[in-house]
Amino acid sequence: MRFDIFTLFPEVFPSYLDASILHRAQEMGHLQVEVHNIRDWAKDKHQVTDEPPYGGGGGMVMKPEPIFAAVEDILGQPPECPVVLMTPQGELLDQDKADNLSKYPRLALIAGHYEGIDERVREHLVTDEISIGDYVLTGGELPALVLIDALTRLIPGVLGDPQAAANDSHASGLLEGPHYTRPEDFRGWKVPEILRSGHHARIERWRRNQALRRTSERRPDLLASFPLTDEDQKYLDSLNEKDV
Ligand code: ADE
Repeated sequence: MRFDIFTLFPEVFPSYLDASILHRAQEMGHLQVEVHNIRDWAKDKHQVTDEPPYGGGGGMVMKPEPIFAAVEDILGQPPECPVVLMTPQGELLDQDKADNLSKYPRLALIAGHYEGIDERVREHLVTDEISIGDYVLTGGELPALVLIDALTRLIPGVLGDPQAAANDSHASGLLEGPHYTRPEDFRGWKVPEILRSGHHARIERWRRNQALRRTSERRPDLLASFPLTDEDQKYLDSLNEKDV
């Protein structure tokens, strides 16, 4: 998968992209990221990329010309792939949205900054608007990295264990249960006996129950739309009985 990022702050990307799984994904040829500095397409003497808003008010607004020029130069006119604007006004990113976007071989990401971006960019260049949560950051750079991270780990071959992405919290519609590793006893806190029993079917059932329990405690909204089996329902009922 290839990402073309359009930003005024290209220097923030390498440290995250050059570490861990994203780094390996690039080495293995699963991921390609090109970072483009919008300022390079600002053709006036001072390379201005933002100006005060028409109508007054505070803050600066990103100008349309350098953004259009950058995106069209790199991706053609009209652009050959979706052009995603990272904005708190966008559609909320969740695992389903990440799954859908990860099917594209190429995405362009525009990281907005300052008070905002000229509306004509939204109307005539951008095809999708994505928010990573109901809070406002100083720019779209971190959201772009969040999106790249969430999508890259879904590309087949990126995670060592092909089951890993399928088992994630949210992938199945449930939150994951607890994980343990060595030592078996840490400060007197022991790993649950069942996980050391070697009894795979029982371990699977235990994990499922833990996931159900955690989801019902933390995200009952997710459980409401989850297809529960009879066994799941029985387990959840047994939890509720204990509460009474
Ligand atoms: N830019 C600023 N805040 C943002 C958010 N929450 N999501 C996406 N882009 C943003």
